Amino acid sequence: MTGERWQLLPPLDDDEYATLKADIAEHGVLVPVVIDAETGDVLDGHHRLRAWQELRAGGVKVPNYVREVRRFADDDERLGFVVAANLFRRHLTRSQRAEVVARLRAEGWSLRRIGEAVGVHHDTVREDLSIVGNPTIPERVERKGGGTYPARRPRRAPSIVVETDRDERRAAAALKTLGESAPAKLLGLIKAEERARDLRLAERRQAQVPERVTADGFELRCGDLREAWADIPDGSVDAIVTDPPYNDEGLSLYGDLARLAARVLKPGRLAAVYAGHGRLDERMALLAEGGLSYVWHGVNVLPGQHSRITRLMVYGRHRCVLLYSAGRFTPRKWIYDSYVAEGRGGPESRPLHPWQQVVGTMRHWVLMASEPGETVLDPFLGSGTCAVAALSEGRRFLGGDNDPGCVETTRQRLEELLAGEGAGASLPPTSEEVGAT
Ligand SMILES: C[S@@+](CC[C@H](N)C(=O)[O-])C[C@H]1O[C@@H](n2cnc3c(N)ncnc32)[C@H](O)[C@@H]1O
Repeated sequence: MTGERWQLLPPLDDDEYATLKADIAEHGVLVPVVIDAETGDVLDGHHRLRAWQELRAGGVKVPNYVREVRRFADDDERLGFVVAANLFRRHLTRSQRAEVVARLRAEGWSLRRIGEAVGVHHDTVREDLSIVGNPTIPERVERKGGGTYPARRPRRAPSIVVETDRDERRAAAALKTLGESAPAKLLGLIKAEERARDLRLAERRQAQVPERVTADGFELRCGDLREAWADIPDGSVDAIVTDPPYNDEGLSLYGDLARLAARVLKPGRLAAVYAGHGRLDERMALLAEGGLSYVWHGVNVLPGQHSRITRLMVYGRHRCVLLYSAGRFTPRKWIYDSYVAEGRGGPESRPLHPWQQVVGTMRHWVLMASEPGETVLDPFLGSGTCAVAALSEGRRFLGGDNDPGCVETTRQRLEELLAGEGAGASLPPTSEEVGAT
């Protein structure tokens, strides 16, 4: 299906176009250009887009144009939108309107529906049709790719309003993933991406995930950390870098993690444990009770990501990383206790897991706690960020999660990484590399 099919209306004449272009040069594109998420076709705003492109090409500094990326269930819905969006914005002569009316009738629309769409009584639609000759109406409309459906009233198509090419691609990808499950309304980009992510995670949960996935350089285990690592020999792991759940239900896991770490870590080696600020004292007490020794307190600072704790009137601008060791800590090199991200510090959204960390933070703690060739363990994989960081830095990796969707996400991510397409290729520099202290 080409974009031309959706240009129901005659093109603007030269004067109209020149006026539009002058207006865009002065004010920018005020009405969003509407893009089909499925095909990338422009469904509304061809003239606005052409004028914007010509102005930019001519060196005029017009701001980015706003675009609305929409997902349509089928061609009937596309057509309904094109009519609704365009018709009222343009003054049509009677014969131009009759042509549009005939076109809709040929698509199987009822007189009443056409009347509502073009803003006239259905008797007027009948009169318009007599001007162009009544087209035969199919009782059912053919669906793209086979099958038919009866003519029906249009529903609002799900859509997302964005302003840049990058966000347009993000919006189209999210709407494609959501498919039929996209709510029929205007969505925020981040919310749509979160819905798409949760849908993908739910699909991965259905995958047949084996209890263990072993490959050269890594092993993933699906199961509860209290059982999954029972067979790992004492003192066989060089470092733990992990991000347990921060919620109240997950509090006791800090104790379970400490018991596991105290047993499997080599004596004097580090466990870098991410922790939420809430109940931090209890988390630290559980880590100590589980048999670990407190070493130091590190932070991740991501300028783009901060929390607002209204109850305490605090803007939280860092995440805690608690550094503990198995037995007495044996320093092996100077380490930096802060990861300070450049710029915003990472993507605005978490495309793979609701609690997904930025790879740069995990990479920092992998580098601080281990050496190339050593084994790093993360028993709370989530989307596998630590796995990506560890393998990218030449470490061996052990990881687990009790959610099969997380194990499958990590497996896929590592597969991409090892095929040379993953995040490893574009990891940001560490704080050490950029000289942060
Ligand atoms: C904060 S998330 C990890 C996010 C990860 N750092 C990332 O970047 O995507 C914590 C993970 O722990 C997992 N988890 C919770 N309870 C667990 C348990 N008892 N055993 C193993 N994994 C568990 C959850 O399924 C979740 O994926």
